[in-house]
Amino acid sequence: DALKPRLEAARAEVLADAELWASGAEAPPEKEPLDAGFHMLPDRLLAELKEKGAESEVARLKATADRLAASSGSVVVLGIGGSYMGARALMEACCPHYYNEISKEARGGRPAIYYEGNNVDNDAVAALIELLKAKGEPWSIAVISKSGGTLETAAALRIFLRELEASAGDKLSDFVVPVTGTSGKLFELSKAIGCEEIYEVPDGVGGRFSVLSAVGLLPAAVMGLDIEKLLQGAADMNEHFATAAPGENVVLDYVGVCHLLEETEGCVTRLMSTWGKRLEAFGFWYDQLLAESLGKEEQGALPLTIVNTRDLHSRGQQHQEGPRDKVITNIIVEQQDREPIAIGESDNNQDKLNELAGKTLPEVMTAAIAGTNQAYAEDNRPTANIVVPKLDEHAMGQLLQMLMLATVVEGRLIDINPYGQPGVEAYKKNMNAFLRK
Ligand code: PA5
Repeated sequence: DALKPRLEAARAEVLADAELWASGAEAPPEKEPLDAGFHMLPDRLLAELKEKGAESEVARLKATADRLAASSGSVVVLGIGGSYMGARALMEACCPHYYNEISKEARGGRPAIYYEGNNVDNDAVAALIELLKAKGEPWSIAVISKSGGTLETAAALRIFLRELEASAGDKLSDFVVPVTGTSGKLFELSKAIGCEEIYEVPDGVGGRFSVLSAVGLLPAAVMGLDIEKLLQGAADMNEHFATAAPGENVVLDYVGVCHLLEETEGCVTRLMSTWGKRLEAFGFWYDQLLAESLGKEEQGALPLTIVNTRDLHSRGQQHQEGPRDKVITNIIVEQQDREPIAIGESDNNQDKLNELAGKTLPEVMTAAIAGTNQAYAEDNRPTANIVVPKLDEHAMGQLLQMLMLATVVEGRLIDINPYGQPGVEAYKKNMNAFLRK
């Protein structure tokens, strides 16, 4: 109860930030940079779609994605950090399992997706180039960099453009779609190549808050995901965040629980405990969001993504008996896409599984979740559950927006500016100095 007024004040500040940003007025110095543009972006894109139809950004993104899907067997998405993690999270969560391995037909006519420009790993780049050559089909590049100057992505673009030129020749620009700011090195390069479609990362939408701009929407549309449903999920979360009272507000409640446990019990490690295989990349997206937004001024919880039941057999021991510095948030998806598979009877009952023959894998999962939560509860290890009835684009839109809002609310609560990442500059400066020696 003591936290409620502080949570409400933080929410009011976040809502005011969004309004201030939308008004175009200058932010006061203590709020710089004020990248609050992400907040109402889903609502804005949906309203523009309604108003402008085929001319709207959402419709243009879908048309570009369909064009790439028709022309290409594979799309290489180049980007790093906020220009990469969201697309990967959406792919793992919403595309069929083994997406790249199944046929294009089974993917609904959509291309395979590969990610590069998120490292400077020589052998990984060489292997992808080899793979694209071996596949022998046309392929495209979606290059995503807000600043347009990130070395990892820029170097990968130069390398992959060289390869693409060999196959696409003077049609090169048909096979390259950039997403970047309205100026900068990538913007200039894209113009020079002749790219007609250059998608914009809107001003005031920071990298790790950009998944629901063209940064995440273009790759999502290429994969054939329903980007309107994604935006609608986020818009619905905005409505819920703005109107529901603390105690019934998933954003404020998540922040409240995590903050109280950190402040009063020293729970400085925040586990995103995902169940099943679809949400690991989403967890990594959140790792970045939380770490880069609030890991400042010697503050900020340590995010850690867990995939269960897998990690019960690796980290689980420490979560049950290690230091009491963790708050565990389970993300539980209720409904599976496929028919439940039963363990089944066997004449070879050496494994003694016949007594569980009628049990299905979802039933085993439910028992694992209940058993793990009970074990934590019996030892006073704090857990919370976020229950997702079905994992689809709408649910992902809700989850992504929920955690972006939670991160900025928490920033206001602990007086940390969640935008900007001054600490990342140190390595870049040193790396460039070493490269130029
Ligand atoms: O959150 C951020 O701003 C960063 O993680 C960026 O997304 C990342 O550094 C990539 O930057 P850019 O899109 O400018 O290449």
